Amino acid sequence: MAHKNNKFKEKSGHNVLFCTGHQIVMNNVVKALDCCLYDSDNKKYVDFESGVWCTSLGHSHPRINQVIKNQIEKIIHTGFCYLHPVIEESAQQILDVLEITSGKCVFLCSGSEAVEFGVQVSQTISEKPFLLTMADSYLGSYGAAHKKQENEWIQFDWMKCSECSEYEDCDPDCPRLSEIPFHQINGFVFEPGSSAGLVRFPPVKLIENITHKIKENNGVVLVNEVTTGLGRTGRWFGHQHYNLNPDIIALGKGLGNGYPVSVTVLTQPIWKLLEAKPFKYSQSHQNDPLGAAIAKEVIQVIKDENLIEKCTIMGSHFLSQLQQIQKKNNIIKDIRGRGLMIAIEFEDIGNDLLAPTIQRRLLHDGFVVANRPGFNVIRIDPPLTVSKKNIDSFIKKLQNILTNIIEP
Ligand SMILES: Cc1ncc(COP(=O)(O)O)c(C=O)c1O
Repeated sequence: MAHKNNKFKEKSGHNVLFCTGHQIVMNNVVKALDCCLYDSDNKKYVDFESGVWCTSLGHSHPRINQVIKNQIEKIIHTGFCYLHPVIEESAQQILDVLEITSGKCVFLCSGSEAVEFGVQVSQTISEKPFLLTMADSYLGSYGAAHKKQENEWIQFDWMKCSECSEYEDCDPDCPRLSEIPFHQINGFVFEPGSSAGLVRFPPVKLIENITHKIKENNGVVLVNEVTTGLGRTGRWFGHQHYNLNPDIIALGKGLGNGYPVSVTVLTQPIWKLLEAKPFKYSQSHQNDPLGAAIAKEVIQVIKDENLIEKCTIMGSHFLSQLQQIQKKNNIIKDIRGRGLMIAIEFEDIGNDLLAPTIQRRLLHDGFVVANRPGFNVIRIDPPLTVSKKNIDSFIKKLQNILTNIIEP
C-alpha cells in the first residue's frame, strides 16, 4: 500500500519498520570502508558515529572480515551443551584485558542483553530488593534494565550534585547520599561516562563513595561498558577512569565491530554465588563460536594497532580543536569528551534546537554525527582509527556551518 503520510515515510522504509525515534537521513547507503560510508552515487560520508558506537576499528576491517570468513567455514553456531576452543580463547582474551583472574564470560548478542544478564545475576545472588543507577543512564532496550520500575530501581540524580560546593570532593556523609537505602540494594549499575549518549562524567569521588557503600553492604558493582568499553574513552574500559573494582562487566557494541556479539563477565566470587542458585538463562545464540571469534580478533587488533593510545592522541586533538571553535562561537554551550567519545552542546536559541540543523548540514557536507532526538547535543564517536586529516576537515566544515548560522 502506498504511504499517504509523508511523516511515516521519513520515519520508516517501505517494508522496514524503524522505531528508534530518529528520522531516516540516508536511504541509499551501499558500502562502508574504514571511517567512511558511501551512497549509491558513490558520495562519501565520514562516519563520526561508528554506526551506533559499534565499528570502533572502522567498517569492514580486513582482519575482522578474514576471521568471519575463516570461522563460517568451520562453525558458526552450536547448541547449549557444546564448547569450542575459540570460545575459551576469546573469554581468556577478554579476562586478560580486564585483568580479572578466574572470572567467567558468557557471550550474548547485544549490549542490552549483556546488561540485563548482569542485572538478573545481581538480583539472583541477593535477597535485597533494589538496584541503584544514575538517573541519566541508559541500560538497554528491554527487560528490567530498560523499564527501571520503581519497585526495583533507585535512580540517583547526580546532576543535582553539580550545585553542591563539594561537587568534586564529594562528602560520603552528605545528606543526599545518606538518603539512599544502601542496605536494601543488591547492585549498583554504573554507566561510566556515556550518560545515555549525552557524554557526561560523574565525579570520581562521588562514584568512589557510592561503590564503597555498596560493597560495605555486600552489594555488587556492575559496570555497563557497552559504549565506554574497548578503548573508546582512551583507556581499555571507562570504569578505569574511576577507582573501582567491578564484580560484573557488560560489554557490547565495539566488541563485534558491527557484528552483534556482547559479553557479560563475572568475577569468581559472583559466578560461585550464582552456581549455588537455581539460575537458568538460555537463548539460542549464547556462546556462539562466530561471535566469540570476532570478539577475540577485535581485542587483538586494538592491541596490534595501538588503538587505545591513538584514541587518546586523536581525542585530545579533537577536543582542543573544538575548544578553539567554542572560543569563537558563543552558540556552543559546552564541549565534553573523554578519548573519542565527544559531545557538543549548543545554546538554546529561539524555538528550534540547533543540533538537528547542524547535524543535517554536516551530513550534506559529508559528515555523519549523532543527535539524540529532543536534545541540543551533537555526539561524535568516530572509529578509533580516525585520521587527523578527517578531524581537521570536520572542524573546518563545522566552523563554516556555525558562521553561516550566526551570520546567514
Ligand atoms: C550505555 C548503553 N548501554 C547499553 C546499550 C544497549 O546496547 P544495544 O543497543 O547493543 O542493545 C546502549 C545502546 O546504545 C548504550 O548506549
